[in-house]
Amino acid sequence: MELTPNFDITLPKKERYAQLSTSLKGLLQGEHDHVANQANMAALIFHAFDFHWVGFYWVKGQELVLGAFQGPVACTRIAKGRGVCGTCWEKNEVQLVPNVHEFTGHIACSALSQSELVIPICHQDQVIGVLDIDSVFLDDFDADDVQGMLALVKILEERWTA
Ligand code: SME
Repeated sequence: MELTPNFDITLPKKERYAQLSTSLKGLLQGEHDHVANQANMAALIFHAFDFHWVGFYWVKGQELVLGAFQGPVACTRIAKGRGVCGTCWEKNEVQLVPNVHEFTGHIACSALSQSELVIPICHQDQVIGVLDIDSVFLDDFDADDVQGMLALVKILEERWTA
């Protein structure tokens, strides 16, 4: 398997997400280690789109705790209902934030982040974590990103065995 696929950044976004889904399935094939899988998934998405930050937060008690990521260092713990990530967890809803400065309670891990997309990750109908993506551009995420990221998260969820 080609471990580092060459993404054609001239392709329409939907096609790039389709490529990513194929790559992710290959990367996760036969591997059940959560750290290994989340680390490769974060790297795959980060490099495919050149986002500012791509990573995971996992539910531990009443907090989200930082998991594998690519990008600048980030805050390690987020309380339920706090920030974009904690809101995604509490509501079990995708959070698409075109301008983080207009999101009350946004937690600024990096002053460069301008827009953000957070996807809940579920196991047995419970939110177990979130996938967080930050962009340095305002309004950088659209419905194609939401659908694409949901499809990628579904691949991870389907391989969750814990
Ligand atoms: N902005 C997030 C915090 C995590 S960092 O973006 C990596 C939030 O408001 O929850």
